[in-house]
Amino acid sequence: MKTADFDYVRQFVRSQAAIVIEPGKEYLVESRLMALVRKENYQSIDQLVDKMRNSPKGELHRRVVDAMTTNETSFFRDIHPFEALKKVILPELIQKRRPEKQLNLWCGAASTGQECYSVLMTIAENCPEVFQWNFNFVATDLSQEVLTQAKSGVYTQLEVNRGMPAPLLVKYFKKQEDKWQISEALRSRVHFKELNLVADWPFMPMLDIVFLRNVLIYFDVDTKKAILGKIRRMLRPGGYLFLGGAETTLNLDDNFERVVLEKATCYRVTAV
Ligand SMILES: C[S@@+](CC[C@H](N)C(=O)[O-])C[C@H]1O[C@@H](n2cnc3c(N)ncnc32)[C@H](O)[C@@H]1O
Repeated sequence: MKTADFDYVRQFVRSQAAIVIEPGKEYLVESRLMALVRKENYQSIDQLVDKMRNSPKGELHRRVVDAMTTNETSFFRDIHPFEALKKVILPELIQKRRPEKQLNLWCGAASTGQECYSVLMTIAENCPEVFQWNFNFVATDLSQEVLTQAKSGVYTQLEVNRGMPAPLLVKYFKKQEDKWQISEALRSRVHFKELNLVADWPFMPMLDIVFLRNVLIYFDVDTKKAILGKIRRMLRPGGYLFLGGAETTLNLDDNFERVVLEKATCYRVTAV
Protein backbone atom coordinates (compact mmCIF):
# COMPACT_ATOMS: atom_id res chain seq x y z
CA MET A 1 0.00 0.00 0.00
CA LYS A 2 1.35 3.45 -0.88
CA THR A 3 2.54 5.52 2.09
CA ALA A 4 0.37 8.45 1.00
CA ASP A 5 -2.72 6.22 0.90
CA PHE A 6 -1.90 4.73 4.30
CA ASP A 7 -1.48 8.22 5.79
CA TYR A 8 -4.70 9.45 4.19
CA VAL A 9 -6.71 6.49 5.55
CA ARG A 10 -5.28 6.60 9.05
CA GLN A 11 -5.82 10.34 9.32
CA PHE A 12 -9.34 10.01 8.01
CA VAL A 13 -10.17 7.23 10.49
CA ARG A 14 -8.70 9.25 13.34
CA SER A 15 -10.71 12.33 12.39
CA GLN A 16 -13.97 10.35 12.24
CA ALA A 17 -13.66 7.80 15.04
CA ALA A 18 -10.58 8.88 17.06
CA ILE A 19 -9.04 5.45 16.39
CA VAL A 20 -5.26 5.85 16.37
CA ILE A 21 -3.43 3.75 13.79
CA GLU A 22 0.30 4.03 14.35
CA PRO A 23 2.82 4.17 11.52
CA GLY A 24 4.04 0.62 10.91
CA LYS A 25 0.49 -0.79 10.91
CA GLU A 26 0.33 -0.78 7.11
CA TYR A 27 -0.26 -4.55 7.06
CA LEU A 28 -3.34 -4.12 9.24
CA VAL A 29 -4.88 -1.36 7.15
CA GLU A 30 -4.00 -3.20 3.97
CA SER A 31 -5.59 -6.49 5.02
CA ARG A 32 -8.76 -4.78 6.18
CA LEU A 33 -9.02 -2.66 3.05
CA MET A 34 -8.41 -5.69 0.87
CA ALA A 35 -11.49 -7.33 2.36
CA LEU A 36 -13.47 -4.23 1.42
CA VAL A 37 -11.91 -4.09 -2.06
CA ARG A 38 -13.13 -7.63 -2.71
CA LYS A 39 -16.57 -7.07 -1.19
CA GLU A 40 -17.22 -3.83 -3.09
CA ASN A 41 -15.63 -4.99 -6.34
CA TYR A 42 -12.83 -2.44 -6.57
CA GLN A 43 -9.74 -3.33 -8.63
CA SER A 44 -7.27 -2.43 -5.91
CA ILE A 45 -6.69 -0.50 -2.68
CA ASP A 46 -5.35 2.37 -4.86
CA GLN A 47 -8.65 2.59 -6.64
CA LEU A 48 -10.67 2.47 -3.43
CA VAL A 49 -8.61 5.21 -1.75
CA ASP A 50 -8.81 7.33 -4.93
CA LYS A 51 -12.56 7.02 -4.84
CA MET A 52 -12.58 8.09 -1.19
CA ARG A 53 -10.42 11.10 -1.93
CA ASN A 54 -12.49 12.23 -4.87
CA SER A 55 -16.02 11.77 -3.63
CA PRO A 56 -18.05 13.53 -0.95
CA LYS A 57 -18.12 11.83 2.42
CA GLY A 58 -20.66 9.01 2.23
CA GLU A 59 -21.27 5.27 2.47
CA LEU A 60 -17.78 4.26 1.25
CA HIS A 61 -16.12 6.44 3.88
CA ARG A 62 -18.36 4.97 6.57
CA ARG A 63 -17.46 1.45 5.46
CA VAL A 64 -13.74 2.20 5.56
CA VAL A 65 -14.02 3.48 9.15
CA ASP A 66 -16.15 0.46 10.01
CA ALA A 67 -13.50 -1.84 8.52
CA MET A 68 -10.84 -0.26 10.74
CA THR A 69 -12.63 -1.12 13.97
CA THR A 70 -11.44 -4.11 15.95
CA ASN A 71 -14.50 -6.03 17.07
CA GLU A 72 -12.89 -8.78 19.14
CA THR A 73 -15.27 -9.91 21.90
CA SER A 74 -16.65 -13.02 23.56
CA PHE A 75 -19.30 -14.19 26.00
CA PHE A 76 -18.45 -13.52 29.67
CA ARG A 77 -15.14 -12.00 28.58
CA ASP A 78 -12.68 -11.82 31.49
CA ILE A 79 -15.40 -13.46 33.69
CA HIS A 80 -14.61 -11.39 36.88
CA PRO A 81 -16.82 -8.39 35.98
CA PHE A 82 -19.77 -10.76 35.68
CA GLU A 83 -18.95 -12.31 39.06
CA ALA A 84 -18.80 -8.80 40.55
CA LEU A 85 -22.17 -7.99 38.99
CA LYS A 86 -23.73 -11.16 40.33
CA LYS A 87 -22.27 -11.17 43.83
CA VAL A 88 -21.93 -7.48 44.72
CA ILE A 89 -23.16 -4.86 42.30
CA LEU A 90 -26.60 -6.14 41.37
CA PRO A 91 -27.56 -7.05 44.97
CA GLU A 92 -26.34 -3.61 46.13
CA LEU A 93 -28.09 -1.66 43.38
CA ILE A 94 -31.29 -3.66 43.73
CA GLN A 95 -31.45 -2.67 47.37
CA LYS A 96 -30.69 0.98 46.60
CA ARG A 97 -33.05 1.32 43.67
CA ARG A 98 -35.90 -0.82 44.94
CA PRO A 99 -38.01 2.17 46.07
CA GLU A 100 -38.02 3.67 42.57
CA LYS A 101 -37.70 0.35 40.66
CA GLN A 102 -35.50 1.80 37.96
CA LEU A 103 -32.15 0.55 36.62
CA ASN A 104 -30.26 2.09 33.69
CA LEU A 105 -27.40 0.31 31.92
CA TRP A 106 -25.26 1.32 28.97
CA CYS A 107 -22.75 -0.70 27.02
CA GLY A 108 -20.74 1.81 24.97
CA ALA A 109 -18.73 -0.49 22.68
CA ALA A 110 -21.05 -3.42 22.30
CA SER A 111 -19.50 -4.99 19.20
CA THR A 112 -21.46 -8.09 18.17
CA GLY A 113 -23.44 -8.17 21.43
CA GLN A 114 -21.85 -10.97 23.47
CA GLU A 115 -21.08 -8.59 26.35
CA CYS A 116 -24.65 -7.29 26.65
CA TYR A 117 -26.17 -10.75 26.42
CA SER A 118 -23.73 -11.95 29.11
CA VAL A 119 -25.00 -9.14 31.35
CA LEU A 120 -28.60 -10.05 30.58
CA MET A 121 -28.01 -13.74 31.31
CA THR A 122 -26.35 -12.78 34.61
CA ILE A 123 -29.44 -10.77 35.54
CA ALA A 124 -31.84 -13.45 34.34
CA GLU A 125 -30.04 -16.08 36.41
CA ASN A 126 -29.65 -14.07 39.58
CA CYS A 127 -32.18 -11.26 39.91
CA PRO A 128 -34.87 -11.51 37.22
CA GLU A 129 -37.15 -9.23 39.27
CA VAL A 130 -35.20 -6.33 37.77
CA PHE A 131 -36.81 -7.09 34.39
CA GLN A 132 -40.18 -6.18 35.95
CA TRP A 133 -38.81 -2.75 36.89
CA ASN A 134 -38.29 0.18 34.60
CA PHE A 135 -35.24 -1.59 33.16
CA ASN A 136 -33.40 0.34 30.50
CA PHE A 137 -30.40 -1.19 28.69
CA VAL A 138 -28.90 0.61 25.73
CA ALA A 139 -25.98 -0.89 23.81
CA THR A 140 -24.12 1.16 21.23
CA ASP A 141 -21.26 0.89 18.78
CA LEU A 142 -19.82 2.88 15.91
CA SER A 143 -19.94 -0.04 13.50
CA GLN A 144 -23.22 -0.79 11.74
CA GLU A 145 -21.96 -4.22 10.74
CA VAL A 146 -21.47 -5.47 14.28
CA LEU A 147 -24.76 -3.94 15.40
CA THR A 148 -26.62 -5.93 12.76
CA GLN A 149 -25.31 -9.16 14.25
CA ALA A 150 -25.86 -7.93 17.82
CA LYS A 151 -29.51 -7.17 17.09
CA SER A 152 -30.05 -10.57 15.47
CA GLY A 153 -28.50 -12.35 18.47
CA VAL A 154 -27.25 -15.09 16.12
CA TYR A 155 -23.85 -16.68 16.77
CA THR A 156 -21.75 -19.39 15.17
CA GLN A 157 -20.68 -22.50 17.05
CA LEU A 158 -17.19 -21.00 17.28
CA GLU A 159 -18.56 -17.84 18.86
CA VAL A 160 -20.61 -19.68 21.47
CA ASN A 161 -17.65 -21.95 22.19
CA ARG A 162 -15.85 -18.84 23.35
CA GLY A 163 -17.07 -18.34 26.90
CA MET A 164 -20.66 -19.60 26.86
CA PRO A 165 -21.31 -22.08 29.68
CA ALA A 166 -23.20 -25.09 28.26
CA PRO A 167 -26.13 -24.88 30.71
CA LEU A 168 -26.77 -21.24 29.72
CA LEU A 169 -26.48 -22.10 26.04
CA VAL A 170 -29.16 -24.75 26.39
CA LYS A 171 -31.36 -22.48 28.50
CA TYR A 172 -31.22 -19.22 26.54
CA PHE A 173 -30.39 -20.15 22.94
CA LYS A 174 -32.17 -21.97 20.14
CA LYS A 175 -30.29 -23.92 17.49
CA GLN A 176 -30.85 -22.56 14.00
CA GLU A 177 -29.23 -24.93 11.50
CA ASP A 178 -25.52 -24.54 12.29
CA LYS A 179 -25.95 -21.37 14.40
CA TRP A 180 -27.43 -20.35 17.74
CA GLN A 181 -29.90 -17.54 18.41
CA ILE A 182 -30.44 -16.02 21.83
CA SER A 183 -34.04 -15.97 23.04
CA GLU A 184 -36.37 -13.18 22.03
CA ALA A 185 -37.08 -12.67 25.75
CA LEU A 186 -33.46 -11.52 26.28
CA ARG A 187 -33.05 -9.79 22.92
CA SER A 188 -36.02 -7.56 23.67
CA ARG A 189 -34.36 -6.32 26.91
CA VAL A 190 -31.57 -4.45 25.11
CA HIS A 191 -31.77 -1.67 22.53
CA PHE A 192 -28.87 -1.53 20.09
CA LYS A 193 -28.09 1.84 18.52
CA GLU A 194 -25.31 3.43 16.53
CA LEU A 195 -23.22 5.87 18.57
CA ASN A 196 -19.80 7.32 17.86
CA LEU A 197 -18.13 7.97 21.20
CA VAL A 198 -16.38 11.04 19.79
CA ALA A 199 -19.50 12.59 18.26
CA ASP A 200 -22.46 14.09 20.13
CA TRP A 201 -24.21 11.62 22.40
CA PRO A 202 -28.00 11.43 22.29
CA PHE A 203 -29.98 11.89 25.48
CA MET A 204 -29.48 9.07 27.95
CA PRO A 205 -30.93 8.78 31.43
CA MET A 206 -28.49 8.91 34.37
CA LEU A 207 -26.73 5.55 34.48
CA ASP A 208 -26.28 2.87 37.13
CA ILE A 209 -23.83 0.65 35.27
CA VAL A 210 -21.63 1.48 32.29
CA PHE A 211 -19.62 -1.07 30.35
CA LEU A 212 -16.97 0.61 28.23
CA ARG A 213 -14.53 -2.22 27.84
CA ASN A 214 -11.70 -2.54 25.37
CA VAL A 215 -12.34 0.59 23.35
CA LEU A 216 -10.42 3.40 25.14
CA ILE A 217 -7.21 1.55 24.16
CA TYR A 218 -7.71 2.73 20.57
CA PHE A 219 -7.87 6.44 21.49
CA ASP A 220 -5.34 9.13 22.40
CA VAL A 221 -5.12 10.58 25.91
CA ASP A 222 -7.27 13.66 25.25
CA THR A 223 -10.04 11.55 23.76
CA LYS A 224 -9.94 9.15 26.72
CA LYS A 225 -10.16 12.10 29.12
CA ALA A 226 -13.09 13.65 27.28
CA ILE A 227 -15.05 10.38 27.19
CA LEU A 228 -14.39 9.56 30.85
CA GLY A 229 -15.46 13.09 31.83
CA LYS A 230 -18.75 12.68 30.02
CA ILE A 231 -19.38 9.29 31.62
CA ARG A 232 -18.58 10.66 35.06
CA ARG A 233 -21.32 13.25 34.67
CA MET A 234 -23.79 10.57 33.56
CA LEU A 235 -23.19 8.05 36.35
CA ARG A 236 -25.65 8.12 39.21
CA PRO A 237 -24.25 8.23 42.75
CA GLY A 238 -23.41 4.63 43.60
CA GLY A 239 -23.07 3.72 39.90
CA TYR A 240 -20.24 1.66 38.43
CA LEU A 241 -18.03 1.87 35.36
CA PHE A 242 -16.28 -1.17 33.88
CA LEU A 243 -13.26 -0.72 31.60
CA GLY A 244 -11.17 -3.35 29.83
CA GLY A 245 -8.29 -5.11 31.56
CA ALA A 246 -5.70 -2.86 29.87
CA GLU A 247 -7.63 0.34 30.58
CA THR A 248 -7.87 2.63 33.60
CA THR A 249 -9.08 6.05 34.73
CA LEU A 250 -5.74 6.57 36.49
CA ASN A 251 -3.91 9.72 35.32
CA LEU A 252 -6.89 10.48 33.09
CA ASP A 253 -9.65 11.42 35.52
CA ASP A 254 -9.01 11.83 39.26
CA ASN A 255 -12.68 11.87 40.12
CA PHE A 256 -13.06 8.14 39.81
CA GLU A 257 -12.05 5.70 42.53
CA ARG A 258 -10.86 2.22 41.63
CA VAL A 259 -12.72 -0.57 43.42
CA VAL A 260 -11.82 -4.27 43.28
CA LEU A 261 -14.82 -6.58 43.64
CA GLU A 262 -14.61 -10.34 43.14
CA LYS A 263 -11.22 -9.83 41.39
CA ALA A 264 -12.86 -7.37 38.96
CA THR A 265 -11.65 -3.80 38.77
CA CYS A 266 -14.38 -1.23 38.41
CA TYR A 267 -14.71 2.48 39.00
CA ARG A 268 -17.00 4.69 41.07
CA VAL A 269 -17.38 8.41 40.91
CA THR A 270 -16.02 10.34 43.88
CA ALA A 271 -16.89 13.84 42.65
CA VAL A 272 -18.72 15.25 39.67
C1 LIG B 1 -12.64 -4.68 20.94
S1 LIG B 1 -14.33 -4.29 20.75
C2 LIG B 1 -14.88 -4.40 22.43
C3 LIG B 1 -16.16 -5.16 22.57
C4 LIG B 1 -16.62 -5.42 24.00
N1 LIG B 1 -16.79 -4.18 24.72
C5 LIG B 1 -15.65 -6.31 24.73
O1 LIG B 1 -14.89 -5.82 25.58
O2 LIG B 1 -15.63 -7.51 24.47
C6 LIG B 1 -14.23 -2.52 20.46
C7 LIG B 1 -15.48 -1.93 19.85
O3 LIG B 1 -15.38 -0.52 19.91
C8 LIG B 1 -16.00 0.03 18.77
N2 LIG B 1 -15.51 1.40 18.54
C9 LIG B 1 -14.29 1.79 18.08
N3 LIG B 1 -14.23 3.13 17.96
C10 LIG B 1 -15.44 3.59 18.38
C11 LIG B 1 -16.00 4.90 18.49
N4 LIG B 1 -15.32 6.00 18.14
N5 LIG B 1 -17.26 5.00 18.94
C12 LIG B 1 -17.98 3.90 19.28
N6 LIG B 1 -17.50 2.65 19.19
C13 LIG B 1 -16.25 2.49 18.74
C14 LIG B 1 -15.64 -0.95 17.66
O4 LIG B 1 -16.53 -0.88 16.59
C15 LIG B 1 -15.66 -2.30 18.38
O5 LIG B 1 -16.87 -2.98 18.17
